[in-house]
Amino acid sequence: MKARKPVVAGNWKMNGDIVANEHLFTALRAALGRPLLGRIDVVVCPPYPYLGQAAAWLGDTGIEWGAQDVAAVANGAFTGDVSAAMLADLGCRWSIVGHSERRQMAGESDEQVAAKISMCAAHGVGVIACIGETLDEREAGATEAVLGRQVDAIAAALAAAAQPLPPERVVLAYEPVWAIGTGRTASPEIAQAAHRFVRERLAACGYGAAAATRILYGGSVKAANAASLFAMHDVDGGLIGGASLVADDFLGICRAAAA
Ligand code: PGA
Repeated sequence: MKARKPVVAGNWKMNGDIVANEHLFTALRAALGRPLLGRIDVVVCPPYPYLGQAAAWLGDTGIEWGAQDVAAVANGAFTGDVSAAMLADLGCRWSIVGHSERRQMAGESDEQVAAKISMCAAHGVGVIACIGETLDEREAGATEAVLGRQVDAIAAALAAAAQPLPPERVVLAYEPVWAIGTGRTASPEIAQAAHRFVRERLAACGYGAAAATRILYGGSVKAANAASLFAMHDVDGGLIGGASLVADDFLGICRAAAA
């Protein structure tokens, strides 16, 4: 039994349709009973238009649902954005923030990630805050510098919140960019070293709940490699992309986390 309750979060990215989602929700409902959900937290993050469908299918199950992103501002003339207040209105308890695809493709900065965390905190929406280095950064020996900078921004936003998020609503996800969607998973040892660094950095920033914070690994997690990653002391579950779209694969990862 791990000291921290593992979390398995599915990041569907821009995938799914109303019929495929229904199949997936049905399979998750059938397989993830209350005993299993007593041992792990499971979060599903479909695209925005399907959050209502997630609420309808999962609302009474104990499986939670979240968004893949959130606006960095409260409201106003921001065409296409969705605010933390709107997510809270929909019963959405989580949002991913700072995913590397947003950092890379939308040019999202550490400051914007921090602003998104502030918005989530103000509305009681839990955060799954993503960090991770690129291959170039790793090969240049800059992994800790990058992770340190990203964690500092997250910790500052958490500390500045007028209504702090409870520790169980603060999740970090270490996702080395070179491992996302590539089939090239970090070894358990590489993941553990990064997770330990992140936890120590959070503590050094003065974040009081660092020891209790769940830190997920993400990047080509599959049912076959999940157990060895989750066995690491500071790896508290996974943020799952591709494998979260296939019920058997996702459920295999959930079972590995609960073992
Ligand atoms: P992957 O994606 O599992 O497909 O590598 C993980 C993520 O981007 O969150």
